[in-house]
Amino acid sequence: MEDFNMEINQQIHNQATWFTLTNDHNVSVIISDFGATVVAINTPDKNGHVANITLGFMHSHSYLQHHDYFGATVARVAGRLANASWQGHQLDINSTPNHMHGGEHPSLSYTHWNLIKLIKTDSQIGVVLRYISPAGENGYPGRLSISAMFVLDQKNKFTITYFGNTSETTLFNPTTHIYFNLSGNAHAVVDNHEIRINADTIAETDANKLPTGKFLSVADMPYDFRQPQNLGLALSKLPNGLDTPFKLNPQSSLQPQLSLKDPESGRKLGIHTNANSFIVFSTTGFEGDFLVDGTRKMTSQLGLAIEPQMLPDAPNHPNFGNIVITPDNPMIYQTAYTLN
Ligand code: BGC
Repeated sequence: MEDFNMEINQQIHNQATWFTLTNDHNVSVIISDFGATVVAINTPDKNGHVANITLGFMHSHSYLQHHDYFGATVARVAGRLANASWQGHQLDINSTPNHMHGGEHPSLSYTHWNLIKLIKTDSQIGVVLRYISPAGENGYPGRLSISAMFVLDQKNKFTITYFGNTSETTLFNPTTHIYFNLSGNAHAVVDNHEIRINADTIAETDANKLPTGKFLSVADMPYDFRQPQNLGLALSKLPNGLDTPFKLNPQSSLQPQLSLKDPESGRKLGIHTNANSFIVFSTTGFEGDFLVDGTRKMTSQLGLAIEPQMLPDAPNHPNFGNIVITPDNPMIYQTAYTLN
């Protein structure tokens, strides 16, 4: 058996428990049971200096104050749903006239989740949290049980799996809303990052950021990331930045469909998901009078939210994929982050 020192450390705050998963390669991940939130992912740079590659807060109470889903699990349905309605059910209207990110606060992104188990084997460590959303919460039918499993392994792979089980037919399309910044501790904006996405098309969106149902080819557009591109260059051609659903090309391998690299720190990130899109949000226009990571004022392009999920508003577009969950068919969404 491999000799290892991986550990899980639990830190109790007033209203939350933070679980720190640390492997033997200087990589650690902090998960909070408040919103099943990824508080930090700490990785070494090219000189071995370890820093956080996500935007977050150093104190658990900050997560009560800032409602832009920093690292949070977003569900029942991430993204927007047209007219906040599904099969006659009136969902919360919180992005008028639509429904967004599961509905009004406090949504399950700002709620306590229960610890189900800690995982420790010779190759991985993890934590499983569960939230049971009662029938009718945020307008959705069915009692939906969501388990979120966060696992870090010795190969620097961090995997998040959501398991959904419902009492009645309902919708389920979760995401983890992590804002990445590979410079570490929000040292610099993300403009010099290089990004690659295996997507030939994006979903066109209207003025409310709701998909129109049309797909646009990325060819000759600033959205063409099929080969690695400098993010700042693309953003200089997009005055409103990116808040864009990229439809992933089918691929047979488990290779990342998205790669991000910061040439300065040397840090890299690869993401593979079994969902069919990434919503990429560049925080353009997001100027906050608060500090992230205790160090830096929130500004445009301080982070890049990469949201693996089924295409937004899927129930209204037959070719967007299925997000309807039934009692007979539990659903599993899985995303793996390779950190190196
Ligand atoms: C949405 C943005 C929104 C942000 C923060 C993103 O996922 O696409 O439109 O401003 O979340 O709430």
